[in-house]
Amino acid sequence: MAFLVNGNEIFKDARKNHYAVGAYNTNNLEWTRALITGAKETRTPLLIQVSTGAAKYMGGYKLVRDLILNEMDSMDVDIPVILNLDHGTFEAAKECIALGYSSVMFDGHALPVEENLAKTKEIVKLAHERGISVEAEIGKIGENQGGGELASVEDAIRFAEAGVDKLACGIGNIHGVYPEGWEGLNFERLKEIADAVDTPLVLHGGSGIPQDQIKKAISLGISKININTEFQLAFQKATREYIEAGKDLDKSSKGYDPRKLLRAGTDAITASMKEMISWMGTRSVDDKISKVVFDEASLNEE
Ligand code: G3H
Ligand code: ZN
Repeated sequence: MAFLVNGNEIFKDARKNHYAVGAYNTNNLEWTRALITGAKETRTPLLIQVSTGAAKYMGGYKLVRDLILNEMDSMDVDIPVILNLDHGTFEAAKECIALGYSSVMFDGHALPVEENLAKTKEIVKLAHERGISVEAEIGKIGENQGGGELASVEDAIRFAEAGVDKLACGIGNIHGVYPEGWEGLNFERLKEIADAVDTPLVLHGGSGIPQDQIKKAISLGISKININTEFQLAFQKATREYIEAGKDLDKSSKGYDPRKLLRAGTDAITASMKEMISWMGTRSVDDKISKVVFDEASLNEE
């Protein structure tokens, strides 16, 4: 019978040993299987997460929980799996705690910071009573139109003291596709925060950030990297190639059958995930520590 873990030990280990574990959003059945396959084949822990929008699309938080537990059984999963609510409201976090998600992100960034902190503390209490992990957000992650806000060191300390298990910080990162002329991650602020708190730090908007910046961020304390857009683009590209090659039109091989039509895109998610796992240094469950080696000089190369 499948079970979920809260991942606290995994992320503490990642922070301590300078590697990162990906946090991958699921969007449907195929996505879920692609992510489980990637984790199984690399023998790395899997954090699978769902946004409110994706959960609504799929049929609700309960359906997502049941889907993941069922797939874990049917795919014979023998690696640790964490199920996380991504960017949840206060109500959504409470709902997912009650449903037995093993981790929840309460995203109170749009609230006045005192209210964000007070509500985060309530979620921490509810979650910790049940052994569930909590992620909070400080500062603001930008969207592709901009609008991010740097997290302050003072907030990092206050939220860490509130007992959050993972802390998402606005450090110039953006959700979705990065715009032309993006300034890059603010390593100075990341370092100040990492020096002030031991909490594993989370990088949202992990898709499309140059590898060297990600590696530097990991070396400074980022332990969880959220990825969604990257795999959507991988899925889209492979699906487009399948259709442009006319494979969906082949009636003799039933290329129009969704089980075939969605195959190339699904495999592309797994391939992209395995590549990321290798350069984020994600530690295999069987392995010794694999530390990300960051070469400062390479960051400034064109
Ligand atoms: O919470 C999810 C993410 O931060 C994913 O961002 O779609 O830019 O990879 P992304
Ligand atoms: Zn995010």
